[in-house]
Amino acid sequence: MGILIVLFILLFIHIHGNGHHKEAKGNALSNCDLFQGNWVVDDSYPLYTTSQCPFIIKEFDCQKNGRPDKLYVKYRWQPKGCNLPRFNGEDFLRRLTGKSILFVGDSLSLNQWQSLTCMLYKDVPHANYTLVRTGDLSTFTFPSYDVKVMLSRNAFLVDTVNESIGRVLKLDSIEGAKMWKGNDILIFDSWHWWLHTGRKQPWDFIQEGNHTYKDMNRLVAYEKGLKTWAKWVEDNVDPNKTRIFFQGVSPDHLDGAKWGQPSARFCEGQKVPVFGLNYPGGPHPAELVLEKVLRGMSKSKHVYLLNITTLSQMRKDGHPSVYGHGGHRDMDCSHWCLPGLPDTWNLLLNAALIHN
Ligand SMILES: *[C@@H]1O[C@H](CO)[C@@H](O)[C@H](O)[C@H]1NC(C)=O
Ligand SMILES: *[C@@H]1O[C@H](CO)[C@@H](O)[C@H](O)[C@H]1NC(C)=O
Ligand SMILES: *[C@@H]1O[C@H](CO)[C@@H](O)[C@H](O)[C@H]1NC(C)=O
Ligand SMILES: *[C@@H]1O[C@H](CO)[C@@H](O)[C@H](O)[C@H]1NC(C)=O
Ligand SMILES: *[C@@H]1O[C@H](CO)[C@@H](O)[C@H](O)[C@H]1NC(C)=O
Repeated sequence: MGILIVLFILLFIHIHGNGHHKEAKGNALSNCDLFQGNWVVDDSYPLYTTSQCPFIIKEFDCQKNGRPDKLYVKYRWQPKGCNLPRFNGEDFLRRLTGKSILFVGDSLSLNQWQSLTCMLYKDVPHANYTLVRTGDLSTFTFPSYDVKVMLSRNAFLVDTVNESIGRVLKLDSIEGAKMWKGNDILIFDSWHWWLHTGRKQPWDFIQEGNHTYKDMNRLVAYEKGLKTWAKWVEDNVDPNKTRIFFQGVSPDHLDGAKWGQPSARFCEGQKVPVFGLNYPGGPHPAELVLEKVLRGMSKSKHVYLLNITTLSQMRKDGHPSVYGHGGHRDMDCSHWCLPGLPDTWNLLLNAALIHN
């Protein structure tokens, strides 16, 4: 009998000790690499449901679009050396009173921005909020906390300008950055649009200095554009006033060969992550470019890389696939369902904000 009770106690400790509820092991956040770890099932997930977040856009609302499997919302990221701090929306808003957070980037920024507004709203459902969309800027405000969470759609970070010859992507021009000033937290992302060709390519020429090109190796163009962005940060950001993050490159899952399945397999029907500590497909070439540019910046600027590439590569199960907006006609293996993976990106953002 005594042994049984001890067994039950041990079992209890085991179950609850692994939960999301526990705070960082020994509070070792400072010397823990948050981005190395693995995915574990946690029954307390997801952090919110579709019905707790009335403003999820259709493209990301996989449950409402009829996705039948639900295990993909149950995965929690477990860093190797510590636990991620739990998210407390009210605490997050109090800490940022009077501040504005601006996401700048493509639809992967939209994905993360929506996730953050859902996580916050779920924790303060009685607070008033306003959501205003004007042109490429979306502003989500919690007036009672005096906090703004904004999104500026900007695929390249550098400028695209209409000229007599056509639309010109200017690798060394960044006039669009004017609107980034005056915000307290900036979270950038850019990659996917650099790849687009044909009808989806929103420029006709690339210009650098006095040279105009019909096209260029896209990784090279990406690096040049990022360097212009880095120079803007060096020249314009006071790290005592503004915190800067860069969302690492978010991977697609268009080729099953990358995770050991037939090449023809897209992400459709994937119900579980790649387990283990590494992704068989290896590092993402664009991520290597991004990391190189960030390494070249002065340390005093403190650009924090949300190094989400590897942990996201493992989540071949996290995309909308046919449960986005387009069904089989427009299979989506690039964006992520909400609730889902971008919630983890925001847990990592939260950990970085708390820690510093
Ligand atoms: C990002 O994470 C990956 C995987 O853990 C690691 O290999 C890489 O060195 C990290 N990059 C940086 C800049 O820390
Ligand atoms: C929400 O807004 C309404 C109308 O502006 C106001 O009457 C109410 O006090 C607000 N509630 C909170 C919790 O701020
Ligand atoms: C640039 O030109 C394209 C068509 O080539 C047009 O759709 C777009 O509205 C123009 N943008 C501006 C800012 O004039
Ligand atoms: C570009 O051309 C202008 C005018 O011809 C010249 O003044 C300028 O130095 C050139 N810039 C570069 C980077 O070559
Ligand atoms: C930021 O603050 C620190 C400490 O107060 C100061 O030493 C440093 O010069 C400041 N940096 C800038 C760019 O103002």
